[in-house]
Amino acid sequence: MKLLDHVDDELAALARDARHVAVLSGAGISAESGVPTFREVQTGLWEQFSAEDLATPDAFDDDPALVWTWYRWRQSLVQAVEPNPGHLALARWQKQLTETGGGLSISTQNVDDLHERAGAEVLAHLHGNIAAHRCTDCGASVQLPAPGYDGFEAPPEAEGPPACERCATGLIRPDIVWFGEALPMDAFEATMAAIRAADLVVVVGTSGIVQPAAGLPLLALERGTPLVEVNPQETELSETMDFVLRGPSGQMLPTLLETIS
Ligand code: OAD
Repeated sequence: MKLLDHVDDELAALARDARHVAVLSGAGISAESGVPTFREVQTGLWEQFSAEDLATPDAFDDDPALVWTWYRWRQSLVQAVEPNPGHLALARWQKQLTETGGGLSISTQNVDDLHERAGAEVLAHLHGNIAAHRCTDCGASVQLPAPGYDGFEAPPEAEGPPACERCATGLIRPDIVWFGEALPMDAFEATMAAIRAADLVVVVGTSGIVQPAAGLPLLALERGTPLVEVNPQETELSETMDFVLRGPSGQMLPTLLETIS
């Protein structure tokens, strides 16, 4: 593994030569937009809870209003922030490769839409989409606009999830993947195919501890495809990487793009 604090000539050449790039992103790519990651300590209103403990079916069963309000708050937050230079650099790279007959796929564990709002096409939302909701009983899907909380420091009143209008027995929940739940198979399989077809795999802003998404980059090892990590911290995946760009993606990805454009 080559640990770098800047893009060196070897990495620049690798990125320049790559025609099919598979990107796997996690919460860290949205951190510089102001969306807190899952493993950092929560602040303000939510400081007594860990994000991990709220993202479970059991938490929703125990206290639907708490979990519902947390997700509605996150949905509101996501809508209020903007894509950062890391998202924009990936969108630009995707456009460049597509225009020259190659491609760049993005598979994200993030439930926000910041890649899309930066202009990129996303192959797979492995953990779903925070703007989508469904009934816990009948599965009916419901689109709910973000509540638009005013300011994110002041606690919103805890509100319970609405009852399902179709079956009247279920509650509406976020249509995202919680711990212990299965990932959408189409998204997972599309990502496996993209990694197997890639000549470069870039892993951005994920701690690499939540399975099965964390195992996906390892598919690159089957064909010896080079792996690059962009992250300011060491992760579970760092040792497996060929290159580690140790720094925030909002700085590192634009720099990488500049060297190959
Ligand atoms: P984590 O919160 O586990 O990890 C965030 C990663 O982003 C860490 O490795 C940070 O070092 C890194 N990071 C922080 N700031 C960064 C920056 N500016 N640039 C690049 N990286 C930065 O987030 P995920 O790995 O995405 O799942 O978490 C995986 C899943 O666990 C989430 O999708 C969510 C969570 O529970 C579910 O809700 C099912």
